[in-house]
Amino acid sequence: MNPTELLQRAKEAQTNAYAPYSGFTVGAALLGKSGKVYTGCNVENASFSPTCCAERVAIFKAVSEGESEFVAIAIAGGKKNEPAAACPPCGVCRQVLSEFCPEELSVILADGGEGATVLTLGALLPHRFHLS
Ligand code: THU
Repeated sequence: MNPTELLQRAKEAQTNAYAPYSGFTVGAALLGKSGKVYTGCNVENASFSPTCCAERVAIFKAVSEGESEFVAIAIAGGKKNEPAAACPPCGVCRQVLSEFCPEELSVILADGGEGATVLTLGALLPHRFHLS
């Protein structure tokens, strides 16, 4: 699957976002080594702190289904009813991704148009926290 196709899957997932409090919708599409794609969207909560980001929904889905090695993640986010813009993953999601993904993981970000910006997880999270 190429970066454009993966980003399209993220944009589709973004349409399922439950974001009545922030009005900011996010979709993620995580490509496993098996070739399977796991999507996620942000799911907010009236109590705020239980809110889960799109990226973590996607990775938790994947790991819970037995896949724990990944090659790329695409992310699209933005205000409701506006074109998907760049939405770099938050710090918590970077740390969660780093538990399972290599520093070379491609992070494909929507750019507000038809294109994408591609970074690596290592560039987004140098010196990740790890035990020992
Ligand atoms: N959000 C994500 O889904 N992913 C991120 O990496 C950053 C933020 C969500 C959480 C919340 O529902 C909304 O965006 C505004 O913070």
